[in-house]
Amino acid sequence: MPIFFANPRSQNLRIKKKIMNVISEVILQKNYILENQNKKFENNLKRYFKIKYAVGVNSGTDALKIAIKSLGIKKNSEIIIPTLTATATGSAVLEAGAKPVIIDVDETGNLNLEILKKKINKKTQAIIVVHLHGNLANIKKIKKIAGNIHIIEDCAQSFGSSIKNKKAGTFGKIACFSFYPTKNLGGIGDGGAIITNNSSIYKKIISLRQYGWDKKRISKIPGYNSRLDEIQAAILNLKIKYIDKDNNERIKIAKRYIEAFKDMPISYPKILNDSKHTYHLFVIKVKNRDKLINYLILNKIYPSIHYKYALHNMPSFKKYKKSNMFHADKLTQNMISLPLYPGLKYNEQKKVIKVIQKYFKQN
Ligand SMILES: Cc1ncc(COP(=O)(O)O)c(C=O)c1O
Repeated sequence: MPIFFANPRSQNLRIKKKIMNVISEVILQKNYILENQNKKFENNLKRYFKIKYAVGVNSGTDALKIAIKSLGIKKNSEIIIPTLTATATGSAVLEAGAKPVIIDVDETGNLNLEILKKKINKKTQAIIVVHLHGNLANIKKIKKIAGNIHIIEDCAQSFGSSIKNKKAGTFGKIACFSFYPTKNLGGIGDGGAIITNNSSIYKKIISLRQYGWDKKRISKIPGYNSRLDEIQAAILNLKIKYIDKDNNERIKIAKRYIEAFKDMPISYPKILNDSKHTYHLFVIKVKNRDKLINYLILNKIYPSIHYKYALHNMPSFKKYKKSNMFHADKLTQNMISLPLYPGLKYNEQKKVIKVIQKYFKQN
């Protein structure tokens, strides 16, 4: 059987009956838009993050776009983002009408603090802090550097990650999540959410999510239709019950890999002290990356790369590159995402380890 770097289908099959049951519950509801399941999910998020406000939206990209808009960021203002991230981080900035300032990362794969300090100027209105692969950015130091500049946490890849038990998403003014099927908390379709402790930002998000409406359904500001689907909300309500267990399973598999690879020429993006990496992706760094990938594929193991092309290497973002990209360029050339997800069987983990051991014996 092939082993993939992620496998939402197999994760969903483990709880298929329960998923079918919650979908049936939605069918029996009186109404289908922003109803019980959304309310329940928003309450689940509030409880999980110990935060005042949570809003379900249509995707992680929309979460970022709406978060930027809710902060009242003016057209053409600058928003600093790391180059090593999903394309969505950059797309959301452009969609919101702001100008991305794309800078390098550091050994963690996250925002480079030294470059960040140099790039902040009068036009900088926000910094999007991505916690890449589930690995925490140095958010405490970034907060100090940022001063009064808004911090938006992009937690699409870091649901449940934390530093000294404080969860990613609770450091900045506002945080965004994606529930894309492969995410640690994933739907069976698109979904996203925004969390904040600020009531006026929350009111603005609620309005932006639905046509810019106020309570009387009068559109006061240009808004969107970015509602979280009730069926996705129902599935997420079910899955959020298992998120800590699932994350712990990810961590256990990661530890097993790290132990097995300890004498091999493999290294990893740096992890901050006291932080909990939830391994949305298990990323290794190796020389001759493509050779190892080909060997894995020959053995029916299908890894991936996150990311092969950083934003500054994509035609639509090239012009926003505002630093040298030393670390990102190195990482994009030597990273591989190995198979890791809850439910990855012990034998499958063993096969991944054996094949990699064999490869390094021959090379
Ligand atoms: C870091 C990051 N930001 C934003 C997004 C966008 O999320 P979505 O695909 O739900 O729009 C993703 C998902 O790929 C992501 O990984």
